[in-house]
Amino acid sequence: MATATTTDQLCRNYINGEWVESKSAKIVERRNPANTDEVVARIALSTREEMKQAIVAAKAAFPAWRETPPPNRGKILFKATQIMQAQKEELARLLTREEGKALKDALGEVQRAINILEFAAGEARRLNGETLTSELPKNFAYTIRQPLGVVGAITPWNFPVAIPIWKIAPALVCGNTVVLKPAELTPLCAIRIAEIFEQAGLPPGVLNVVLGAGEEVGDELVQNPHVQGLTFTGSTGVGSKLYAAGAERLKKIQCEMGGKNPVVVLADADLQLAMESAVTGAFGSTGQRCTASSRVVIEESVADKFVAMLVERAKKFVVGDGLEAGTEMGPSVDEDQFNTVLKYLEIGKQEGRLLCGGARLAGPKYDQGWFISPTVFDHVAWDSRIAQEEIFGPVMSVIRVKNFDEALQVANSVRYGLSSSIYSNDPSKIFEFVEKIETGMTHVNSPTVGGEAHVPFGGTKDSSIGPHEVGHAAIEFYTETKIVYIDYTGRQRESSLY
Ligand code: UN1
Repeated sequence: MATATTTDQLCRNYINGEWVESKSAKIVERRNPANTDEVVARIALSTREEMKQAIVAAKAAFPAWRETPPPNRGKILFKATQIMQAQKEELARLLTREEGKALKDALGEVQRAINILEFAAGEARRLNGETLTSELPKNFAYTIRQPLGVVGAITPWNFPVAIPIWKIAPALVCGNTVVLKPAELTPLCAIRIAEIFEQAGLPPGVLNVVLGAGEEVGDELVQNPHVQGLTFTGSTGVGSKLYAAGAERLKKIQCEMGGKNPVVVLADADLQLAMESAVTGAFGSTGQRCTASSRVVIEESVADKFVAMLVERAKKFVVGDGLEAGTEMGPSVDEDQFNTVLKYLEIGKQEGRLLCGGARLAGPKYDQGWFISPTVFDHVAWDSRIAQEEIFGPVMSVIRVKNFDEALQVANSVRYGLSSSIYSNDPSKIFEFVEKIETGMTHVNSPTVGGEAHVPFGGTKDSSIGPHEVGHAAIEFYTETKIVYIDYTGRQRESSLY
């Protein structure tokens, strides 16, 4: 039986329970971003035809999977949870080699995926509707949850384990079949996920993985009439096009996109706590997360003190190969992302005052990878490009403000609305902030990043469209509600209800 990769590291597609080699001649290499001498994987950019085959397989597998009682579906997910738990360390190391993030971040990500699998598995026994009384005697109504059918999942490279899991697990538990198109940069994590589900006993065709480019295989998922649900995480540019094309075909769609998340630090805040959290939020995962703390909005009266603490900590942030002990931050994911960040560093030097970082890291430890030093710009204007545009790199912009009202105004002055934080001990300001901040998620005295397995995840404004992900919100997205009226009088109604 074929395995997930060939002997020369070419990743196979997973279609209808078989590992199949793509017929495409377009092969791309994935190299370790910390050491570009190391080829981690090779993938073929699959054809539209291959994606169609995967969709056909998912459609064929749907009736039997839908008929499988939900608790039995849940048992397969519990098994997958156990397998992933047993492979946690190995999977985290694979994630670091492929994506670059520090091993401690990779371990955190895999644990999050395990928690999400566990939660989704438990939801199998709670796929309930509601019972409603009637205006008529001997009548009642109830609702049932039914799967959508075939769900297409398009996932990014920055959380190559957690995001596919938080889409696949609830979709499966609800009785949908899935076709996953992971980012080209992180194929190994995706095929490892499929292997885990295969070992857990998922029937053929229920989960399929097709590797390839968004323009071809991703587009087929959006166009194909047999795909009923689409879930996407990626840039706002791609997401808005995908949403428009999918909406035209009346698919149920959810898109999680960019962010420009503020950490608001008020004068009464615990500055040490706020500083540590801003640093973790800005430089953790190399700033390559849609929830990254890319803006610090701080009251002028404490700004000098805070910025001095920030710079001292940023300069000590340990950058290196994510697999080395003690590394806090790995490289940018690839040359393109690296060049994008360098471009913004140049823009930032025009727009703000560079306090630390601002360049590629050099030296034997860094020369083979895409390493950039943690960067802080101070005195950044709220409307400058580095304060408005998502950079997806280790770059923090400090914006100084006069008072709380201005802080709130500045925090809301971007097109994005994913996450935010406030550092303060003043309940009236904290609750006013919670009420008025235009983000889907907000944190009080804790970082902008992260999220729990049973808690919904999602934003507002240009960050998200469609129902939230994760937790019970995911069950809402991956099901349709059917409404059932029951009349047990056994008689013709005397008059129609209305
Ligand atoms: C996190 O902050 O831990 O693509 C998760 C992203 C988000 C996930 C962030 N959808 O970065």
